[in-house]
Amino acid sequence: MEACDEVVIYSPTESTYGISNSQLSMFNFPLAIILSLPRFGYTMAEYGYSDCCFNKEFCCITFKYYKIMGTKETKVALVTGANTGIGFQIAKALAENNYVVYIGSRDSAKGEKAALEIGRNARALQLDITDSLSVEAAVAQIQKEQGYLSLLVNNAGISNIGKNGQSMEEILNSQRASKASIKEMKAVWNTNVFSTLAVTQRFLPLLRSADNARIVVVSSALGSMTLNADVTHPYRAHFDVVYGASKAALNAVFLSLAIELEQTNIKVNMVSPGFTATALNNFQGTDTVEEGSREPIRVALSEDLPSGIFTGPGDFSQRQNVIPW
Ligand SMILES: NC(=O)c1ccc[n+]([C@@H]2O[C@H](COP(=O)([O-])OP(=O)(O)OC[C@H]3O[C@@H](n4cnc5c(N)ncnc54)[C@H](OP(=O)(O)O)[C@@H]3O)[C@@H](O)[C@H]2O)c1
Repeated sequence: MEACDEVVIYSPTESTYGISNSQLSMFNFPLAIILSLPRFGYTMAEYGYSDCCFNKEFCCITFKYYKIMGTKETKVALVTGANTGIGFQIAKALAENNYVVYIGSRDSAKGEKAALEIGRNARALQLDITDSLSVEAAVAQIQKEQGYLSLLVNNAGISNIGKNGQSMEEILNSQRASKASIKEMKAVWNTNVFSTLAVTQRFLPLLRSADNARIVVVSSALGSMTLNADVTHPYRAHFDVVYGASKAALNAVFLSLAIELEQTNIKVNMVSPGFTATALNNFQGTDTVEEGSREPIRVALSEDLPSGIFTGPGDFSQRQNVIPW
C-alpha cells in the first residue's frame, strides 16, 4: 500500500476511539481526518484498507471494534459542574492524563460543548446534583457503560441565588450573619452541602466497585474555621454565612466521610482552588482559571495522597499545601 497525502478514517458504525498515534503512523499519512465521534468502552481490534484510495489523496480505512469487558485498568472519573470554570480545567487535565472523564453538567448542551472542546476521553453527562432523578440517571449510565468509578470530583457549587450581575462586595454584604436571607442560605447549602453528599452516597457503590477509588471535594479556604478565627488572615472579612459557612459545613461532612471510609478502598480529600476569576464571584477573583485550578488538578491527579487532608494553594496554606480545618 502506498502512502497517501491525506486519509479520511471512515467508521460508520463504531468509532475511532482506541486508535493510537503509533497505529496511525503505521499508515504513513501526514494528515488524518477522523470523522466519527469517540465512543467509550471499545477498542480497535483490526483495521484494513477498503478499496477506495483515490488518487493518493483520500483513503478510507475501516475499523472493527470489540467492547472492552470487565477490565478496570481504565481510570474512570466524574467531575460535577465540569462545563465551565475550575471543573472544566480539572476534567481537561484528567482527560489529558488518560482518564475517561464524564463531564457532569446540569445543562446538557453546555456539557456536550465542553466535552467536544476537551475531545478525546471526555463524555458529557447530564447531572443536576440537586435533582434526584438526574442523579439516578447519571449513576445508571456510568454503571451501564463502565461498571465502576475510580474518581468522583465534587466540584459543582454556587455562591448565591439570583444575584447575577451584582459585585462580590454587594453579594457578601447581603450574606452577613446579621441579615442573610435564610431562604437563600438553605438553597446554597442545599447545593454545596446536602446535594454534594447525596450525590456521593449514590455513587459509593460504583466507587466501591473500582480497585482503588478517590473522592475529591472542591471546597474553599474560606471554609477553614482556623484561618477565619485568625485576626491576621486577609480574607476573613469574606467569611459569610451563605457561602463561606457552607464550605465549613462541607468540610465537616466530608471529614466525617473520610473517617468512616478509612479502612476501605476509597480515599476522601478536600481541596481549595485559588481566588479564581469565575462566574461564582462575578469574575472578580485574582487568579486566572488556569492558575486557580492548579491545586485542585494536582490533588485530582495524585493517587498517593493520604486520605482526609485539606489542601490549597501556597498563599493560604502551610507545609505541603495543607490548610488547617
Ligand atoms: N472561584 C473561586 O475563587 C473559588 C474559590 C474557592 C472555591 N471555589 C469552588 O470551586 C468550585 C467551582 O466553582 P467555579 O469557581 O469554577 O465556579 P463556576 O464557574 O460558577 O462553576 C460552577 C459549576 O458548578 C455548576 N453547578 C452549580 N449548581 C449545580 C447543580 N445544582 N448541579 C450541577 N452543577 C451545578 C455550574 O453549572 P452552570 O454552568 O450550569 O451554572 C458550573 O458548572 C465550587 O465548588 C466553588 O465553591 C471557587
